[in-house]
Amino acid sequence: MATYTHGHHESVLRSHSVRDISNSAAYLRPYLTSETRLLDVGAGPGSITMDFADVVAHVTATEIDEGALSLSREAAESRGIANVDFAVEDVHALSFADDSFDVVHAHQVLQHVGDPVQALREMRRVAVEGGIVAVRDADYAGFIWFPVLPELDRWLDLYRRAARANGGEPDAGRRLLAWARAAGFEDVTATASSWCYATAEERTWWGGMWADRILESALARQLVDGGMATAADLQDISDAWRRWADDGDGWFLVPHGEIIARA
Ligand SMILES: C[S@@+](CC[C@H](N)C(=O)[O-])C[C@H]1O[C@@H](n2cnc3c(N)ncnc32)[C@H](O)[C@@H]1O
Repeated sequence: MATYTHGHHESVLRSHSVRDISNSAAYLRPYLTSETRLLDVGAGPGSITMDFADVVAHVTATEIDEGALSLSREAAESRGIANVDFAVEDVHALSFADDSFDVVHAHQVLQHVGDPVQALREMRRVAVEGGIVAVRDADYAGFIWFPVLPELDRWLDLYRRAARANGGEPDAGRRLLAWARAAGFEDVTATASSWCYATAEERTWWGGMWADRILESALARQLVDGGMATAADLQDISDAWRRWADDGDGWFLVPHGEIIARA
């Protein structure tokens, strides 16, 4: 089984918990109604999940283990949301019956799993016939930024090596259509959208988050323990992230692939 590269350190959650339908699932929004029964695979901190709960009939939030699932339980509790239930599930082998959900969604999950095609087969199995499997993933090799900082090239290279060592595919966005076709979907709409960070506030948040994450998260431990980088290398990368965040010219683009696949 693949290992989740980021882990759930506070510096990771800081980046995930600002996600909502408008910045992360706009491609799916036209398909959601007050009747929809939605399964959210790999709900993480649950901010997108709870946004779904505001517009659909019912959401089932799933995570790979109870520790990760507790994050979306807390999100539901703090927002007073009642139409969500919770289950520990591995997307490769879901325990739900066939045809259980109208929409099966996964955001930034398939890039981390060992067999994304099997994951999509399972997502399809639990969706009703004619229902929707909706997936969105970033594509790390497609990230672009300014100013050019060699330490950020090093960061990207290290991240992609670590993610692959964990059994994931960091350049997932470009592969979603291919994975869906391999999983047997015949009706797939593939689109793209991006996150762009260019204001002082966005740079402080994104750059500051990576400056911390490269020193303190599961990724940092993996890079040092695996001999891919030294603590000093990671400090240089962290310092470069802070320089990027402080630079008024700083700009960063995170491209994503997304698919709407008919079950
Ligand atoms: C980058 S987070 C995305 C969380 C959330 N969907 C979001 O976008 O904010 C990826 C999540 O996938 C979960 N995950 C990893 N492997 C999984 C698997 N095999 N089955 C289900 N979830 C998995 C991780 O625990 C993690 O919370």
